[in-house]
Amino acid sequence: MSETVQDKVDFLVIANRLPVDRKVDDDGNVSWQSSPGGLVTALEPVMQRKGGAWIGWHGAPDEVVDPFHHDGYDIHPVPLSAQEVEEYYEGFSNATLWPLYHDCVVEPVFHREWWDAYQKVNKRFAEQAAEQAAEGATVWVQDYQLTLVPMYLRQMRPDLRIGFFLHIPFPPIELYSRLPWREELVEGLLGADLVGFQTPGAAANFLRLAKRRPGVTTSRGKAHTRDGRDVIVRDFPISIDSRGFHELATSEKVQAEADKLREDLGNPETIIFGVDRLDYTKGLRQRIRAVGELFKEGKLDPDEVVFLQLATPSRERVEEYKILRDDINLLVGQINSKVGTIARRALVYRNKSVPRDVLAAMYQVADLMLVTPVRDGMNLVAKEYIACRSNDDSALVLSEFAGAARELKQAYMVNPYDIDGMKATIMQALTDSPKVKARKMRSMRRQVFDKTIDVWADDFLTELEGR
Ligand code: ADP
Ligand code: F6P
Repeated sequence: MSETVQDKVDFLVIANRLPVDRKVDDDGNVSWQSSPGGLVTALEPVMQRKGGAWIGWHGAPDEVVDPFHHDGYDIHPVPLSAQEVEEYYEGFSNATLWPLYHDCVVEPVFHREWWDAYQKVNKRFAEQAAEQAAEGATVWVQDYQLTLVPMYLRQMRPDLRIGFFLHIPFPPIELYSRLPWREELVEGLLGADLVGFQTPGAAANFLRLAKRRPGVTTSRGKAHTRDGRDVIVRDFPISIDSRGFHELATSEKVQAEADKLREDLGNPETIIFGVDRLDYTKGLRQRIRAVGELFKEGKLDPDEVVFLQLATPSRERVEEYKILRDDINLLVGQINSKVGTIARRALVYRNKSVPRDVLAAMYQVADLMLVTPVRDGMNLVAKEYIACRSNDDSALVLSEFAGAARELKQAYMVNPYDIDGMKATIMQALTDSPKVKARKMRSMRRQVFDKTIDVWADDFLTELEGR
């Protein structure tokens, strides 16, 4: 494969994020770091396999960065000014759409200037794609930050095959209708040939909205647009590079890392683990409260059990994320001040990101994994745990409000709003017989190894390319 950036490509991914983030420190030193979140985890292996180009923002405001070649594909950084980051990314994407699409678990904020910035930046992404795409190319647009791109791109380049995939939930019409620009966003998506969602429910919610547009009719899994096109609307539950995660987790290096980690944690009998972006959708408040109460009530013994929770800093300038960070710090402090000893904390909390091999070691040592979002499109952490953990004496506690609950049916299912119910399920997961746990783990392992990220990408692209 060529190491130089190609002029035009037949396959393009457009996402707000690039797989790598450009960090500039106070002394002006530049470094590149892996970007946070499930979108990058999922799409990186797809791009490494397929080649082509990835168009996205490089994470540093007010900087123009030249295209470059990376891991077998081209990267085209799209610049955003500091004001655009504030209005398009932190504002409209993450203070309007993100909470709106996650069942309004916090109040969405509506500002007309943010909407203006959203349109302007979406147009810029579309223009960049129109420039890079070869005649008849396949363009795959990702996620809620870029809802208008399919429509703009179709206006600029009607020869392209355009797919769109939403990584997060799509809300019911009753919530979505609050959005002052609801019609425009639906029109934006109808610019695509194929619109994919994580669950059938999300696809059905979108079809109900599409049907309300003048001149648009719908039939099972399709919207017929007024310009005479059929847009396929379907669920494509996303996954991970299961074998890649498994190989990493069982490698000698990671096994050694896991041994060291267990020792650093004081060789407890049981390790409970959680790892998330620090986001209010992940149910961290409820999860920490539930485990904290189990320690305080003596149902969990801090001499035997450690709860390790990692939370990657995320969207740190958005108000609700600042509130969450402070709440969690307080909650963790309160619990540790009451249970455990100075030498041994019951709850080990780290507000940082870790490299993939360290994360794999953490999955390897986790006897119990807690994945308890109050709403989540899919949740890849749940699948990563199943792929990495080779010991059958393991358990996954999973929120029924994660997309993954549709597939990982054998998990210990919880409603994260029901703290007592969650506590009871955690205790059941810890005390069930090895036989029961092994049956559950084997069944979930089959699912995760059958439906990998390659299957997801092939399903989506076969459907799109068959258009
Ligand atoms: P989201 O896309 O909302 O962040 P997912 O669970 O789908 O949620 O994906 C999160 C991804 O980020 C996973 O691949 C997970 O391994 C990774 N991740 C989350 N927290 C950390 C962390 N502290 N360090 C390293 N990777 C993390
Ligand atoms: O997977 C959902 C998602 O919102 C992605 O679109 C995004 O890249 C990721 O989470 C991390 O969020 P952010 O890009 O805002 O840091």
